[in-house]
Amino acid sequence: MSFNLSVISNKNIVLAVTGGIAAYKSAILVRRLKDAGFNVRVVMTQGAQAFITPLTFQALSGNPVHTELLNPEAEAGMGHIELARWADLLLVAPASCDILAKFAAGLADDLLSTLYLATPCPVWVVPAMNQQMWAAKATQRNLNTLVEDGVHVIMPDAGSQACGDVGLGRMPEPEDLAVQVTQYFHQAQRAIAEKFGLLADKHVVITAGPTREAMDPVRYISNHSTGKMGFALAAACYAAGAKVTLIAGPVSLDTPNGVHRINVSSAIKMLESSMQMLDDGCDIFIATAAVADYRVAEVAEHKIKKSGDELNVTLIKNPDIVATIAQQQKRPFMVGFAAETRNVEQYAAGKLVAKKLDMIACNDVSRSDIGFASDENAMTVFFAERYHMEKRDLDKASKQEIAQQLVDAIHDALNHALAPTL
Ligand code: C5P
Repeated sequence: MSFNLSVISNKNIVLAVTGGIAAYKSAILVRRLKDAGFNVRVVMTQGAQAFITPLTFQALSGNPVHTELLNPEAEAGMGHIELARWADLLLVAPASCDILAKFAAGLADDLLSTLYLATPCPVWVVPAMNQQMWAAKATQRNLNTLVEDGVHVIMPDAGSQACGDVGLGRMPEPEDLAVQVTQYFHQAQRAIAEKFGLLADKHVVITAGPTREAMDPVRYISNHSTGKMGFALAAACYAAGAKVTLIAGPVSLDTPNGVHRINVSSAIKMLESSMQMLDDGCDIFIATAAVADYRVAEVAEHKIKKSGDELNVTLIKNPDIVATIAQQQKRPFMVGFAAETRNVEQYAAGKLVAKKLDMIACNDVSRSDIGFASDENAMTVFFAERYHMEKRDLDKASKQEIAQQLVDAIHDALNHALAPTL
């Protein structure tokens, strides 16, 4: 498996600039971060705008600059909560005494202090100020609080200051800061690569989306599955170094990068493609598809004409794809999904046994905030008894994050002493 660690892509930095003479250095910092491949959005406090104009940062970052919390126009673009979610890193440079005090106290009376409280991403502060203000007990007390709260503090450099003093308080050079930020993301990427490296050389086959069961040449029976979970898993498995085949029912999603996609319509076709994959050598089979339980017994050759008040259609049971694959002699590591509206865990555990699965991920679709069309999910994962592994609760998160955790669970089970050798 090879991961390209030299370029940072798809990572978002919110660079927050506060009031201090070092604000001019932040303009160069934007350039350096952009050079390293980051997407950058700039937030400015009122104080910062006394030193440098938003227009400068807009031109350098290529994005509108965020300055106000309660401006309806600004909020109509990317609101503060959206911005808080967008960020992979909140980098406050320069960070004034004032903003450190606000962060430490948990105030939320402007855009930046609110953003700080609203973002789930890591926060780095780069204090820059007069050496006396840096040494002040209150400043040091606030910094200690921030460190305890998990904020990463980049220490200021010593030297001559704009105010004429000499001492600690200078903002490090933008080039050095950009290198530190880049290294941080590289390390995080490397950790992920190391963690998920064991899916390298594995062929993962994933079924996703709904199936469509034809009634006649123009009508069909189907369901509301969007395929998002399966597609997120395909992307996560590929990122974990696996070769991935995605057998997809009709969905309107783009094929994840690097994934081989086979489009199918009916359950029978989905089963046919899945069986073929066994011949091609499949190590892990993940069934996320919402396969129609029944299909029309006799598909009409021509469009069924409107006639009486009633139309009776006979439905017959579709094959259970995941259970069929699990019965094969050369069976892969089998992962099933269960969407239930009640007795979630009990039914899921039952399916694990009945379908002879190695692992099952179940979710409660009676919850309106997760599941089917949602971008988020929450799941409980069970492992077959022979693994002697504890069930895992995956808290509500984006389907991408849940997919990562499922890859983690598959990886752990595969490396469990009792797992079959693939
Ligand atoms: O019993 P239920 O249909 O709810 O089981 C869900 C699990 O079984 C999912 O992993 C689903 O993809 C799989 N399944 C299947 N073929 C079917 C029905 C369900 O592979 N015909």
